[in-house]
Amino acid sequence: MKMWTCSKIAALKGKQRFACVTASDAVSGCIADSADIPLILVGDSLGMTVLGFSSTLPVTMEMMLHHTAAVVRGVKNALVVADMPFMSYQTSEADAIRNAGRFLQEAGADAVKIEGGAFRAPLVRALVQNGIPVLGHIGLTPQSVLTMGGFRRQGKTPAAVRQLLKDAKALQSAGVFAVVVECVPDEVGKLLSESLSVPVIGIGAGSACDAQILVFNDLVGLTGDQKPSFAGCFGNAGQVMRRACEQFRKSVEK
Ligand code: KIV
Repeated sequence: MKMWTCSKIAALKGKQRFACVTASDAVSGCIADSADIPLILVGDSLGMTVLGFSSTLPVTMEMMLHHTAAVVRGVKNALVVADMPFMSYQTSEADAIRNAGRFLQEAGADAVKIEGGAFRAPLVRALVQNGIPVLGHIGLTPQSVLTMGGFRRQGKTPAAVRQLLKDAKALQSAGVFAVVVECVPDEVGKLLSESLSVPVIGIGAGSACDAQILVFNDLVGLTGDQKPSFAGCFGNAGQVMRRACEQFRKSVEK
């Protein structure tokens, strides 16, 4: 039996700030899990950080199932959330339920994440009513990069902040166990955290959020200059790995 469930994550609200990490394979999942990270997201950002795409749009269900199953194999205690890729839930409620169910049945995930605000509330409700826990995601939603005009900071006007608050509350009423808020001003992260009864998990949303999430490759120093400006870096794994390759090359060449 896993240590972390959706309800235990939700119950951290107001008691303990917590850190979440993305993972894309059994190795990164196992590393994050052994660092006692309670929530591991198999984010579709893996399309950019691991698969070399320039956005998350080309990521498919088959890719996400493959990576989610690998992460699940590496994790003992953390809650594993699978990110539903572009066009796996936008086409119809039936498609969304079927695809979300595949993450639980075939890959062994504990929950799914979908992007979007109040307009997604009916779908969130349907998923939860069908036994599928949901993590919401508002603010910068990378699957809408083409309609948002790029990877841009959100919540910059009073009207946009009011909309974000409406979105967050609608998702909460529909039954999400937590909401990711990406790339908004610090005050907006704080306002949302203070206004919701479920945890607000920030990325580029200020330190006042209930939790923080970072992309594994950014956090360990594997993405170099390509990472977003707000992504924290707590290691230099890229340098360590390059040095190991150099040492190996030199040991063979001499
Ligand atoms: O895909 C992803 O990694 C995400 C996080 C940035 C929250 O959605």
